[in-house]
Amino acid sequence: MKSLCNLPFELAALASYVPDNVLDNKQLEEMVDTSDEWIVRRTGIKERRIASTGQATSDLAAEAARKALGAANMSASDLDTIILCTCTPDHFFPATACLVQNAIGASNAFCYDLQAACSGFVFGLAQGASLIRSGIAGNVMVIGAETLSRFTDWEDRRSCILFGDGAGAAILKESEGDSELIFCELGSDGSGADVLNVPAGGSRLVASEQTVEDRQHYMHLQGRDVFKLAVGKLGEIVDNLPEQTGVEMEDISLIIPHQSNERIIKSVCSRAGLAKERAFMNIERVGNTSAASIPIAMDQAIEEGRISRGDLVLLLAFGGGLTWGSMLLRY
Ligand code: ACO
Repeated sequence: MKSLCNLPFELAALASYVPDNVLDNKQLEEMVDTSDEWIVRRTGIKERRIASTGQATSDLAAEAARKALGAANMSASDLDTIILCTCTPDHFFPATACLVQNAIGASNAFCYDLQAACSGFVFGLAQGASLIRSGIAGNVMVIGAETLSRFTDWEDRRSCILFGDGAGAAILKESEGDSELIFCELGSDGSGADVLNVPAGGSRLVASEQTVEDRQHYMHLQGRDVFKLAVGKLGEIVDNLPEQTGVEMEDISLIIPHQSNERIIKSVCSRAGLAKERAFMNIERVGNTSAASIPIAMDQAIEEGRISRGDLVLLLAFGGGLTWGSMLLRY
């Protein structure tokens, strides 16, 4: 689904939270047969943050949400909606968004979770903008939050090196200035569902002693396949963007890609003939935080002065499902 939106829409505030606990590559060397050198060379990751015992996804999300409200100078009761994008919820139900609502006191909001794995935040922004456009909601909070460490098989060196925990929250409003959502492309391909999944614990493979013994409640990842699919799809999106939007790549101030692997991001840039500095990267310090990755990266990019009001920003995501999403914004 592609759409040229030109929708007056503003990210009134953006904030992020990562847990204090750092897990670096040297510590991983003690846990599985790997090396700092291999991880850095193959992924660009040096360390990641891990939620402390007792800290669940809603706790990380609530921290980011409170910071975003503070940055927007708003109270939680001003929110009409909370959309929480996650593939690592506190429970199957109720929605983690409702737990965040209770934690921050957003008593006037309707709240629900959205599951599109690493593409979740871009899907969430698209839904938030649609709710604003339809008049159903005025002040929308979209959160990407994950505790992937809880679903990581710490004995599987092919996947455990990749993931980290964190949260990012955005407050969306109708824009009164120049900010707008210019273009949005969202897509899915369920035929690729098996390349990245948690096989057991749902209605397909109900939790049992056997599924636990077989380590089926952890993330299973066919990394090489995901890598190729991500480079191909994101490259295609970037190739087509100028024709679809009338915006040239050189007019875009910064690309904020999902932080899945430094080599994926560099490949997408090189295919489009862009210097790698045109894409923001913080994967070195936080790893892949799935739906939290884009809002955490965007918050840091704003803090570092890499994006200012009025700049064109391109969000790019690819993840389990398979799902993908791109969004061109005037910030
Ligand atoms: N340390 C040392 N060696 C390793 C490690 C490790 N941690 N992991 C794998 N290897 C070995 C493999 O066993 C293999 O050895 P072999 O050739 O003797 O069999 C060799 O390294 C190469 O393995 P590959 O899997 O081909 O390594 P690759 O270069 O593809 O890197 C990686 C693996 C990092 C997982 C990469 O494929 C990747 O980043 N994929 C994308 C992951 C991703 O983007 N996920 C995003 C979605 S996440 C979501 O939606 C929640």
